[in-house]
Amino acid sequence: MGEKKTLRKEYSKSELRREGLSPDPFNQFQIWFREAINEEAVEPNAMTLSTTSLARKPSSRIVLLKYFDHRGFVFFTNLESRKSRELRDNPFAAINFFWRSLERQVNIEGSVVLVSSAESFSYFSKRPRGSQIGAWASKQDAELNSRDELEDTYKQLVKQYAGQPIPLPPFWGGFRLIPTRFEFWQGRANRLHDRFEYRAYLQNEWEIRRLSP
Ligand SMILES: Cc1cc2nc3c(=O)[nH]c(=O)nc-3n(C[C@H](O)[C@H](O)[C@H](O)COP(=O)(O)O)c2cc1C
Repeated sequence: MGEKKTLRKEYSKSELRREGLSPDPFNQFQIWFREAINEEAVEPNAMTLSTTSLARKPSSRIVLLKYFDHRGFVFFTNLESRKSRELRDNPFAAINFFWRSLERQVNIEGSVVLVSSAESFSYFSKRPRGSQIGAWASKQDAELNSRDELEDTYKQLVKQYAGQPIPLPPFWGGFRLIPTRFEFWQGRANRLHDRFEYRAYLQNEWEIRRLSP
């Protein structure tokens, strides 16, 4: 284990007050997300996505938030991966952002739907060609015998699609998390952190509560 001294940190950057909160959690997220884009050195859109299996066993991994609006939070992935399988079995998930430099985290929970293939294609077509080919090359989560196997598949696909646009793989697409709960967490001194929860109680109506840290 590391030294206690280096692991204990006081939080003092900022504070979160009820009066300063937007009544709309999507707007509140937008405000914090903009600050994270300015302050967080790398990938402020990286979020931990948690899903559960039919056997109620949880699993987590990082995915990138590609865009969001009042309809929800969208990420893209291989549709045959473990996460996708779990989301089909149990279409509820949680995402967590940790913005270290701002001493903030955001938790969002809700139900998850697959985006249409037209929407997936619209995003896919804007990705760099190398990532598009990479999506075809990876059978995410299937066992590989070697790294060479993956790279040979990639090279083969580069040849196959030379001079042509890369089609959307039928096993690749986006999910949209439709939030029913948000939590905004701001680190404060002496572990007296600020936490505000938004819960959906009617369409576009959110109840806000301060939670004990
Ligand atoms: C910074 C970062 C960003 C990532 N972004 C994505 C992503 O947007 N989509 C994705 O499918 N995997 C992404 N991954 C890989 C996933 O964390 C994970 O390894 C992969 O999706 C397989 O997950 P699963 O087996 O739980 O389905 C990212 C990993 C890191 C570290």
